[in-house]
Amino acid sequence: MPTITEHNITDEVLNRTNTDDPRTKEFLEKLIKHVHAFVRDFEPTEAEWFQAIDFLTRTGQKCTDTRQEYILLSDVLGVSMLVDAINHRDMDGATETTVTGPFHADAPPMEMGTMIAVGPEAERGEPTVVRGKITDVRGNPIKGATVDVWQSDDIGYYDTQDVNQPEVNLRGLFTTGEDGTYWFRTVKPSSYPVPTDGPAGELLNAAGRHPMRPAHIHFWIKAEGFEPLITHIFVEGDEYIDSDAVFGVKDSLVMKFVANESAEEAARYGFDAPFQEVRYDFALKAVG
Ligand code: BEZ
Ligand code: FE
Repeated sequence: MPTITEHNITDEVLNRTNTDDPRTKEFLEKLIKHVHAFVRDFEPTEAEWFQAIDFLTRTGQKCTDTRQEYILLSDVLGVSMLVDAINHRDMDGATETTVTGPFHADAPPMEMGTMIAVGPEAERGEPTVVRGKITDVRGNPIKGATVDVWQSDDIGYYDTQDVNQPEVNLRGLFTTGEDGTYWFRTVKPSSYPVPTDGPAGELLNAAGRHPMRPAHIHFWIKAEGFEPLITHIFVEGDEYIDSDAVFGVKDSLVMKFVANESAEEAARYGFDAPFQEVRYDFALKAVG
């Protein structure tokens, strides 16, 4: 056994890595090589090494059943969107994907057209109609697709973060009929900060970065025979559209929310004029 030095330690660790599973072998070898290369390059002091251990420890301690600080860390470091990009290189005309984020919760099935804003924001926010179609990549409507939506309120809070909102608010689950269309009523979402009271917030602060996400509505669309689609539509003109804290914006997902001044049309939706309208058609990729 040779004396371990900074020059031979990487090979010694690699030599002791024995596994028959090729993917595990590749994972461990690359992990060891990249982490050792990083340490050689950065040359941390022992105090800095301990600071890194403490940071990762506190990241784990911040996690609960409803909060995943490691995912948030992955998001703000751009790792989540890098994994997204690698896994969706070949979209073949399907709608582009983006991060899931930590705020999804199950919503009960609802009738098309339901007003999903049932908290105090329903009085304050800008009434909005969201509509569109779920199709395959050739534009054929998909019947029986489930359209799961969730969003923040007009001041940037999800129901799970805010005791002033009802338990299920600004969430909905809709199922398409023969023509593949969906629609629901809501309030216009607002930009909001990702949670900053944990290690991911410390990292943003240390990097001199803001924590804001541009306003968006989340969609998780599932249909038999198609790959599930997790994406957002973003509000065009949002001040953070070019600097999303989690790098989730793609041009094809940015949509104009258009003001409609017609009192007659507003009344049809149970709104006062003006109200906002946005349309987005989602194309799903067939499995296989
Ligand atoms: C969200 O859009 O809900 C989100 C995504 C990533 C990190 C934090 C929040
Ligand atoms: Fe969100």
